[in-house]
Amino acid sequence: MQVISAIEALRKTVRDWHKADLSVGFVPTMGNLHAGHLALLKEAARHCQQVVASIFVNPLQFDEERDLLAYPRTLEADIAQLESMNVDVLFTPTEASLYPHGREALTRVEVAGLGGILEGAARPGHFVGVTTVVTKLFNCVQPDLAVFGEKDFQQLLLIQRLVTDLNMPITLVGLATVREPNGLAMSSRNRRLSVEEREIAPLLYRELQAIRNAVLHENSDYTVLEQAAIERLTCQGFVPEYVAIRDANTLFAINNNTKNRVILAAARLGDTRLIDNLRV
Ligand code: PAF
Repeated sequence: MQVISAIEALRKTVRDWHKADLSVGFVPTMGNLHAGHLALLKEAARHCQQVVASIFVNPLQFDEERDLLAYPRTLEADIAQLESMNVDVLFTPTEASLYPHGREALTRVEVAGLGGILEGAARPGHFVGVTTVVTKLFNCVQPDLAVFGEKDFQQLLLIQRLVTDLNMPITLVGLATVREPNGLAMSSRNRRLSVEEREIAPLLYRELQAIRNAVLHENSDYTVLEQAAIERLTCQGFVPEYVAIRDANTLFAINNNTKNRVILAAARLGDTRLIDNLRV
């Protein structure tokens, strides 16, 4: 595996692959890799002949400086995992190369509407940071296909919208959330959970399952279901931010045109903010 930091060197490598008619799959990450990331890489390799992964802890998407500073940086261990997955190139851009005019005076990419609800409302500025950096990474890597996890369901929808609205020639693939045997969605944040919190954390997914069962049994009192879940989570020790049953295509409230539904939740457990979702 080649580790490339310079954008020009990366572009040359990808240009050569494209000249040789090789397809390029891309998995952007912020590092601290776990089994969820490895599943994304496997999926990219299933579709494409060459695979690029990136590691860049994007300062623009953190709403709290202390969260950015605390984000685990584990490059050596990440490289070892990527090598075992037969990744062709690891792209590790510097902040100066991705943000040449600094973090403030820069062109930003915003998906209006969808970017302002749920996670967007809870974490102002977060999604502009995500869609801006993903646009930049796509411009650097120029992949044919990119794979994102459904764990960050709203992020995936936003990136789908971004790709369509900006006519990017990239196929997007969303991959089902990889879970621990107890149901907890895999996330780099899980490493911050204490032993006691690890026991409680899977209850978030269990709440989503309970709501799904109720909805499948024709319970359409969505507000009541959401509120009851918030109360149960609070009793279990979470500080819930939202539990929402939404249209899976728009993330807006369910209406007569809704074909697919999704249940989304965000809750704090101690110092760790957990998010999860489940399609109905
Ligand atoms: O999902 C993530 O890890 C990040 O939001 C992403 C897509 C790599 C952008 O920084």
